[in-house]
Amino acid sequence: SVIFLTSCQSTEYPVDYEQLGKEERIVIRFSHVVGEDTPKGMAARKFAELVKERSNGLIEVQVFSNGTLYKDGEEMNALSRGDIQMIAPAISKLTDIVPEISVFDLPFAFNSLDEVHEYALSDIGEKLTNRLKNHNLLVAGLWDSGFKQISNSIRPIEHYSDLEGLRIRIMPSDILTKQYETLNAETKRTDFVTVFNVLQNGNVDGHENTLTNITSKNLYSLQNYITISNHGYLGYLILFNYDFWNSLPEDVQQLLTEILQEVQEWEWQLTKEMDQEKLQEIQHCAIQLHTLSEEDKLEWEEKLQPVYDYYREHYSERFIDALPKFQN
Ligand code: LMR
Repeated sequence: SVIFLTSCQSTEYPVDYEQLGKEERIVIRFSHVVGEDTPKGMAARKFAELVKERSNGLIEVQVFSNGTLYKDGEEMNALSRGDIQMIAPAISKLTDIVPEISVFDLPFAFNSLDEVHEYALSDIGEKLTNRLKNHNLLVAGLWDSGFKQISNSIRPIEHYSDLEGLRIRIMPSDILTKQYETLNAETKRTDFVTVFNVLQNGNVDGHENTLTNITSKNLYSLQNYITISNHGYLGYLILFNYDFWNSLPEDVQQLLTEILQEVQEWEWQLTKEMDQEKLQEIQHCAIQLHTLSEEDKLEWEEKLQPVYDYYREHYSERFIDALPKFQN
């Protein structure tokens, strides 16, 4: 069954190493696109270390970071082909195969990461992520990058109207396109590995991302202004090729599940800490910082209502109605 990792399971069935035998060493190739100095980068390494340690080296997780092996647009195909076994793409990048999953992209949908976790782990959240099963994908967890902020090189973004006419790099998601369209900004979709270049050569004026992504790639060095808007969630689904997962012995699945549960909790905590650290760091950089007040945010949220209407009209009512902000 799909493991959206809700409860801790103890290892009742330790891996039977004798039976597994050396010749059956298992290799899991795990490709992702961000730097090592990010919550995803660090969690990937932690996962690899724990797996090595607890399987006595019989299971090896090989992590390929920074998009060195496959870029955004390539990793899903590589997973389907079985060239790699595990990826952790941003949820926005899964919206082409499961469009309803873009509920996570809606602006101001969640007030905290805890709210995101609660939603993702709820029955409705699991129904949503389980739709990936139809694409031979097993969802083995959720990792955070955090909430996105808006950076640009043209002017401070305080009122939403300040975005008018700006060219903004986004991840491939129609909800993100709609979000900026509603604010009369232009959007360009690019792979994460090319964000530095498009900001540097002026192909776009700005972009939205989390502070750990912005700092780990030095993106703030190319921008003059950053608005702490916390307007949208950026998180990852941990995905295995389903056929590969099913081919694993049950005790190996059990061990991996347990470690993923542990790493997920660790990663959630790490994201909160790193995000705060990076905010402190960025305050000392030559970039002008503006933080949206709660009042501002309400104004932005109201202005962005058409994005919700678009979601309801094109995708589904029920995934949106179950958002924490529409409860009570
Ligand atoms: C982006 O493309 O901006 C992010 O999804 C990169 C990532 O994986 O965090």
